[in-house]
Amino acid sequence: MTTPAWPRLPRLETAVARTLLLGWVLARVADAEGTPVRAYNLTWKSTNFKTILEWEPKPIDYVYTVQISSALGDWKSVCFSLTVTECDLTSEIAQDVRQTYLAKVLSLLPNNTGFVEDAHYRNSPEFTPYLETKLGQPKIESFKQVGTKLNVTIHDTQTSVRSNGTFLSLRDIFGKNLNYILYYWKASTTGKKTAMTNTNEFLIDVEKGQDYCFLVQAVIPSRKVNKKSPESITVCTRQEKGVFREMLFIVGPVILVIIIVIILSLFLHKCRKAKARQSGKENSPLNIV
Ligand SMILES: *[C@@H]1O[C@H](CO)[C@@H](O)[C@H](O)[C@H]1NC(C)=O
Ligand SMILES: *[C@@H]1O[C@H](CO)[C@@H](O)[C@H](O)[C@H]1NC(C)=O
Ligand SMILES: *[C@@H]1O[C@H](CO)[C@@H](O)[C@H](O)[C@H]1NC(C)=O
Ligand SMILES: *[C@@H]1O[C@H](CO)[C@@H](O)[C@H](O)[C@H]1NC(C)=O
Repeated sequence: MTTPAWPRLPRLETAVARTLLLGWVLARVADAEGTPVRAYNLTWKSTNFKTILEWEPKPIDYVYTVQISSALGDWKSVCFSLTVTECDLTSEIAQDVRQTYLAKVLSLLPNNTGFVEDAHYRNSPEFTPYLETKLGQPKIESFKQVGTKLNVTIHDTQTSVRSNGTFLSLRDIFGKNLNYILYYWKASTTGKKTAMTNTNEFLIDVEKGQDYCFLVQAVIPSRKVNKKSPESITVCTRQEKGVFREMLFIVGPVILVIIIVIILSLFLHKCRKAKARQSGKENSPLNIV
């Protein structure tokens, strides 16, 4: 028995095959430079309705165009001939934040205006702003501690969503679905308490004369995703210092008067002593003589 021999190419044929292979590789490389690459990793980045679509890769010798459509509408081209990999779609989704939107990214040669092959565009995931836009970090607008009450007011952030020509706030859009959680604790301890409101204001009971620290967080309990915002920065009341300052304000002038009286009486005492000594001097020679 003989082992089957693999067919061998003659030398000439091998050389031709190599050349062909090299040619094919070179052709692919050249091709890659000029051919639009299909976009991938399409991602919605959205906070407080400010909405940007991002994708990869960075284009070389071609451009991107983005189209958007709501479930009801036609496709509309928004960003044209982009050499970057993002497109701001805020003004499109702001027209109806409860709609579900779909976007697609087309890869085109710079002067291409015609038909786009399947291979040269990709659809984004669906996006419903009302359900999915992230809640931005809330800001504490003002706070006041009077006696046993602490009043905290949260800034109602304005969005780029318009109605009748005016910009709507988060509260305008979400109504009572938008809640805020207050985390608060005595400045001297770490045990946190929480309170919740469906307005932008807290009025909570605290201990008189105690300093408190607190922060807030926005939450939409009915949501499945992106329920909570990041936490606000922490702020603290300055109750004792306030009292101290008030006391200083009242007691200050009294102390000043007392100090003046002491200095004056010391001065007068010295004067009297000096006078007494002088009269003593005037008398003593007489005594000696
Ligand atoms: C898409 O992005 C994720 C992270 O953002 C990354 O891990 C993944 O590799 C990307 N996909 C491709 C095809 O590059
Ligand atoms: C498009 O651009 C290519 C090179 O980038 C050029 O050869 C071609 O003539 C252009 N076509 C039109 C219609 O301008
Ligand atoms: C809490 O403070 C806000 C802003 O200073 C004020 O408008 C509101 O009336 C206060 N609420 C109470 C109950 O004092
Ligand atoms: C917008 O304005 C019209 C007329 O000015 C009014 O009827 C309508 O209720 C307003 N819509 C909103 C959301 O304010």
